[in-house]
Amino acid sequence: MSAKPTLPKAILMDVDTGVDDALAIILAHRWPGAQIVAIGTVTGNVSAAQAATNTLKTLDALGADTPVAVGASQALARAPFPPSAIHGVDGLGDAGLPAPARAPTGEHAVDQLLRLVHKRPGELSLFASGPLTNLGLALQRDPELPGLVKEVMVMGGAIVAAGNVTPVAEANIYHDPEAAALVFAADWPVTLVALDVTMRALLRSEELARLRASERPLARFVTRILPPYVAVYSQRFGFEAVTMHDPLAMALLLDPSLTLERAALDMRVETSGEMTVGMTVADRRALIGPGFDQPTHPLDIPLEVDTPRFIAMVMDALLE
Ligand code: BDR
Ligand code: CA
Repeated sequence: MSAKPTLPKAILMDVDTGVDDALAIILAHRWPGAQIVAIGTVTGNVSAAQAATNTLKTLDALGADTPVAVGASQALARAPFPPSAIHGVDGLGDAGLPAPARAPTGEHAVDQLLRLVHKRPGELSLFASGPLTNLGLALQRDPELPGLVKEVMVMGGAIVAAGNVTPVAEANIYHDPEAAALVFAADWPVTLVALDVTMRALLRSEELARLRASERPLARFVTRILPPYVAVYSQRFGFEAVTMHDPLAMALLLDPSLTLERAALDMRVETSGEMTVGMTVADRRALIGPGFDQPTHPLDIPLEVDTPRFIAMVMDALLE
């Protein structure tokens, strides 16, 4: 990718790969100054084991040997949920890709996370683009964890936007609301990249056509895995487009200047409502005026991002 002003980032990823998780991995791998230290997987789009296979296939496409550890297969306090086929039955577009060249490390993703943050206190950025089960388990195991991590970037939730699993709940939070509640309550800096911004971060016909026409290896890889995901979103929108949820969260971690407007808001997660389980309830009263209670433990919530620059960043990563 062309040279861009950037700070070095050492990133520990936690993913449920997933087509858009795969794109987030690609984006980070291609970004100057970023290093993916290790990746853990969690059950979400697919099982944690399948997510590891998909992650390893994505790393093969990048020629990368990043360690991959399988993590939690079930939410902290919920029964298993049926897999979704939004990303294809195998989670990576049912593209018939060859089996990965490597296997997962054998370490549990939670052990990997705790080992690495203790080895490099204050240095690692955590990035989570699946249900937050591994992070929740790590917090339960180690009360020191929040003080050892530089920052936490999460794709999940909906502030005023509609949900995507229920009318009010987004998938990553809905699939483990108790874990999300732990992550949001912990004493570490969390940025929550919610559907409010990700649902506007679209690859449309023009970008998809450019990818399909390209001979570049990463464009070819992505063109193979995208079709079911594009089909689902195109049907939802009524025009050809696909949503870049996880890549947007990664982009905002890599280049914080992409966030044009943000809010600092207290946030709770609904864990018991009849119709609202998994809802992210931001206390937006603080935005009305200083007379309302002001946040005491706010999350950083991007409200407006430079979407055209983000889409250019994705295209550069795949075509340059
Ligand atoms: C999130 O759910 C998953 O399907 C995507 O990979 C993304 O992380 C969007 O709600
Ligand atoms: Ca994901």
